[in-house]
Amino acid sequence: MNLRAVLRHAWAKPLLWGFLLLPFAFLVLGIFQQDLGPNPAEYLIRSTGELALRMLCLTLLITPLRVQLSLPELAQFRRGLGLLTFFYAFMHALCYSLLDMEWAWDDIVKDIWKRPFILVGVLSFVLLSLLAGTSFNRAVKAMGAHRWRQLHQAVYVIAGLAILHFFWMRSGKKNYDDVMVYAAILGLLLGWRLWRKWQTWQAAKIKP
Ligand code: HEM
Repeated sequence: MNLRAVLRHAWAKPLLWGFLLLPFAFLVLGIFQQDLGPNPAEYLIRSTGELALRMLCLTLLITPLRVQLSLPELAQFRRGLGLLTFFYAFMHALCYSLLDMEWAWDDIVKDIWKRPFILVGVLSFVLLSLLAGTSFNRAVKAMGAHRWRQLHQAVYVIAGLAILHFFWMRSGKKNYDDVMVYAAILGLLLGWRLWRKWQTWQAAKIKP
């Protein structure tokens, strides 16, 4: 069976979603087995935050892979990956609100203003929620394809805010190693898109 047939297989999506939800299952297992280290709340907040960022990278990887490898079948995974990004970001925000702030809304509002990296995270999450809420076919129809596409360009803002959030959070300890890895990956994915735009623009200029 070749790669295209594998991607088109009825089991391709369920298997991929199952695989990408495994880290979540391990976190839940860790809670029940009380095996999340000395600070489980911090472990959960950090793991879900990093998982959200990984899902965002995977979402943005789909188009370059689809175009470079000429695999149109990959397009079917993009919406699901975007929704998984939202799912992990939602879990991240939930763990923070519940475990760190104990649902104290006054304290959450104060924390947002006191620690700017939290504000940046919230902004990124609000945009992400907007994209997740409009990711369904009915929303595309209601908004019109052009406006929908314009709104979904916000994914690049989300990526920038997520990296800023991560960078700012680490600035206390000046530990930027993994921040740089994610920034480089997202930079490459965005760079590829700019390169494509430039190529299309050049091709349009050459045409008589
Ligand atoms: C309501 C929105 C958000 C809130 C309140 C929030 C809050 C936090 C907090 C409190 C931490 C630091 C935990 C610690 O000091 O141990 C953190 C870390 C982090 N957050 Fe967020 N965040 C939000 C949105 C996001 C989003 C949308 C993303 C990515 C798409 C994200 C990615 C991360 C990452 C990668 C880390 C660092 C994890 C690590 O150290 O490995 N956050 N966030």
